[in-house]
Amino acid sequence: MSPDRPAGTRLRRLRRTPALREAVAESRLTAGNLIEPVFVRPGGGPPEAIPSMPGVHRRSPADAASWAAGAVEDGVGAVLLFGLPRKKDARGREAASPDSAVATAIRELRARRPDALVITDVCLCAYTTHGHCGILRGGEVDNEATLPALARVAVAHARAGADLVAPSAMMDHQVAALREALDSAGFSRVGILGYSAKYASAFYGPFREAADSAPAEGDRRGYQLDVRNAREALREIASDIAEGADLVMVKPALPSLDILARARARFDVPIAAYQVSGEYAMLKAAGARGWLDEPRAAREALAAIRRAGADLIITYYARAIAREDRDAR
Ligand code: PBG
Repeated sequence: MSPDRPAGTRLRRLRRTPALREAVAESRLTAGNLIEPVFVRPGGGPPEAIPSMPGVHRRSPADAASWAAGAVEDGVGAVLLFGLPRKKDARGREAASPDSAVATAIRELRARRPDALVITDVCLCAYTTHGHCGILRGGEVDNEATLPALARVAVAHARAGADLVAPSAMMDHQVAALREALDSAGFSRVGILGYSAKYASAFYGPFREAADSAPAEGDRRGYQLDVRNAREALREIASDIAEGADLVMVKPALPSLDILARARARFDVPIAAYQVSGEYAMLKAAGARGWLDEPRAAREALAAIRRAGADLIITYYARAIAREDRDAR
């Protein structure tokens, strides 16, 4: 045996059969770890297609509730609800209404499936006329004015029946503000999934079409993370945990595998990654042209996100994967 070929190390041995590969897999993609986003709009009528996100729809509260219930029955771990308002205003007031499309959908989903894990996005961007995630003062998003507004949204969602609220506005101290408001409203049992490391990303483009939430002027770089920074992302995560976040999130997912891996090594809370609208749109577009084998590429991307350290993945593929896995059994 030559010295550069030590006896015993033949790594291919464990790759020989599907059963061997399955037995030694270091991570797994399972539907129970996937979270399906659902867009809820006011009113009735059939689902509306979102052109840049094939297969994803804006749904009425009743339809969103039945779609979400179906996703849970198919095996997805949770649903994450996003809302659109009847009417936008400068302060995004409808977001905290007990009759918002999201609150209505939560109640209907709860009635259908009391056991469903229901998460809601807590932000103002879809509800404000200017499209920013908070309240403007002198042309800037005012952190302190935004915190009570976000807290009211979280309490409204908790009251409707959400298990977890997910603040995504990237305001400083938003987790602490939500925790305090939830506790004093009697919702200490409701948890917080912080959108802790949320980058100012071009990959949110299709979502903004879906949620009609693009900023009318300017961009989100005054509050979301600079893509060039990694240490800062870890500081954001640490501060959300200190403020009481039960779970944290890294977003977008595939462009942030380094952050996921570092966060996994450093923190012991559950970590979610969001495979965002643009990541989905890329796979869909290339798949539609026959340039990629979309189902395989999608699973590979999701497997890589799990391997990097995500416990949970928010993905527009969640229900499709749950169905495939169920049908394969
Ligand atoms: C709300 C929010 C956004 C996303 C999740 N919550 C958009 C944004 O920050 O502009 C993006 C999700 C996606 O692209 O799939 N602030």
